[in-house]
Amino acid sequence: MQVAQQTVPFQFSTAIGKFIGTLVNSSNRSSMEVDSVLPWSKGIEKSMAPKRAEHCWIYGTKYWDMLTPEQRHELMWLETGRDITAFIKLERFLPVLYVGFINRYRNALFKEIYDYMLIFSKEEIVHTMMFRRFMKLGNLPFIQDAESPSKSFLEDISSIPPIYGVMFTLVVEWAAELNALMCTQYEGCEPLTKKMFYEHHLEEVRHIAFGKRLVESYIGQASSDDRIKFSATFRPIVEGVYNEITYNRLIGQFTSFNFPIGPDDREAIAEVRNSEHNQKINKIKFKEMNKWLAEVECDVI
Ligand SMILES: [Fe+2]
Ligand SMILES: [Fe+2]
Repeated sequence: MQVAQQTVPFQFSTAIGKFIGTLVNSSNRSSMEVDSVLPWSKGIEKSMAPKRAEHCWIYGTKYWDMLTPEQRHELMWLETGRDITAFIKLERFLPVLYVGFINRYRNALFKEIYDYMLIFSKEEIVHTMMFRRFMKLGNLPFIQDAESPSKSFLEDISSIPPIYGVMFTLVVEWAAELNALMCTQYEGCEPLTKKMFYEHHLEEVRHIAFGKRLVESYIGQASSDDRIKFSATFRPIVEGVYNEITYNRLIGQFTSFNFPIGPDDREAIAEVRNSEHNQKINKIKFKEMNKWLAEVECDVI
């Protein structure tokens, strides 16, 4: 039988406890219900765009010019399907991670962190149900990120130090959030898509605040060696997450037409990921996150 470790897994102070206590109260006051969060009976208007065209992965490259307006429209829906798949994939893993910490550390966890990890897990399960219902309603394919840089990181979650688990969660969900919001929160976006990402954001704001606060506290007290180890772990993960959000190489396997970039065309994939347009868009999209990553010495360099 595994005996719970007694070491305190997070830095803590009264201020952090108070802050996390406000997140707990806020979540308990209002949290998402799958049935009522969206007007499901209205359905999804697939003739409308689910995202801004200029946020299409290949926009601004010669590959965009090769597509007809109908093909571009189809591509935008598939990209949205990939974005939702990525949320589902992450969010069905997070309860395992956070409830795993609770089982591993039990009462060695501070009460506020213990409580919020339970709430966090519950919210991610509800989000996963909402996303899955949307995918079914929209008849969208699950497009996995087969080359995910985080795959090996997740292989043995029982050995992940808690603060690494929190930082990993933060990096992936914050980047995915910034992307989803920037793609969809505009007048003219397909309404159910727009509202779904907005409602998701209301709860993710708290998750992001939780992760940031714990990581800042860790970095503030970690030794120089520990900070170097932390940066060395997360810099490549951040870079991989940004790359993956910018372009998923498997997209062409889901189009009804011949997609101009093959899944193994490394040169074209790098060209798209590093296109002038994507560099410009990503700079704006991830500005807030990059600023914070630099503060905790995990910015992509
Ligand atoms: Fe979520
Ligand atoms: Fe979340």
